[in-house]
Amino acid sequence: MHARISGTGSYLPGEPVSNAALIAAHGLESSDEWIVERTGIRNRHLAAVGVSSSDLALEASLRALAAAGRKPEDVDLIIVATSTPDFVFPSSAALLQNKLGITNGAAAFDVQAVCSGFVYGLTIAEKFILSGSHKCALVVGAEVFSRILDWTDRGTCVLFGDGAGAVVLEASDEPGLLASALHADGSHHGILSVPGQLCGGMATGDPFLRMDGQAVFKFAVKVLAEVANEVLAAAGLTAAQVDWLIPHQANVRILQATAKRLHLPPEKCIITVAHHGNTSAASIPLALDEAVRSGRVRRGQNLLLEGVGGGFTWGATLLRF
Ligand code: UT7
Repeated sequence: MHARISGTGSYLPGEPVSNAALIAAHGLESSDEWIVERTGIRNRHLAAVGVSSSDLALEASLRALAAAGRKPEDVDLIIVATSTPDFVFPSSAALLQNKLGITNGAAAFDVQAVCSGFVYGLTIAEKFILSGSHKCALVVGAEVFSRILDWTDRGTCVLFGDGAGAVVLEASDEPGLLASALHADGSHHGILSVPGQLCGGMATGDPFLRMDGQAVFKFAVKVLAEVANEVLAAAGLTAAQVDWLIPHQANVRILQATAKRLHLPPEKCIITVAHHGNTSAASIPLALDEAVRSGRVRRGQNLLLEGVGGGFTWGATLLRF
């Protein structure tokens, strides 16, 4: 038995917000040139007040289910990867289950691995399916990072956006996920974090995203190449057999540096960060769905998905689409 992606979907809220519009709205000392040159980001989407991660997850999930030819009631496992859940609890996955109208008691929980969350979620779902306990999983990355940005910190607020991506992962006779690897090193917790919490009815500590950009950059390029090679070796494939590299969409320079380290031509790397910025756990399924719908990713191709994020966490999944 295998676990195979049977459908993909994604959703970006509202109209695109350009670098110039963001700079003007928040009075930032920045420029379109600086943001494009350092990150490749040109636009991001920002959820309206009152729109939550589970709302974005719902739209992406409906599209993924339609692509898979499945009804919500067919789903028996829901995993939402998010660092910006609707509430402390219940999970956004449970809220999504309700919004989808699923009444079959499908298991539902969130995964918190920041920008690696989707790869973590996909790997967990595969293990449920291979164990025989579940047959049809909805794996979603959904984020409203705009809610945790300090709009006076130009070093972070220009980088992130809101969005969601989803896949349906099903038990199949045909090969799907070929190899996965998940890692974490909590000693790097300080270089990318939101070091706040709810306590005594108030937000305590610092409720905004804080990042040492250069430290994150160096760490990301190193571990993304390592974990890519790890899953290639586990699956017995070479980088030359990868049709598409679909990395976490954080910064175009990190994506290009990763492709270079793997000796992959830049045109084999799916890059969508320009029009949605860094959407954390949503970025890999967003990029995957856009590549599927644009006809670049086709059935039977080998895809290498990989992510890195706060924790630090990182991971990769090699799959036959
Ligand atoms: O999901 C993972 C999350 N994070 C990432 O992937 C981010 C990884 N890191 C990066 O992408 C890059 O480090 C950044 C894009 C965040 C920054 O690029 P950099 O080339 O590392 O710039 P820097 O931090 O070395 O800053 C260079 C200069 C500084 O000014 P001084 O000290 O040289 O005068 C910054 O204050 O650029 C300044 N700067 C800006 N200038 C204009 C920082 N942010 C901005 C801005 N506009 N938005």
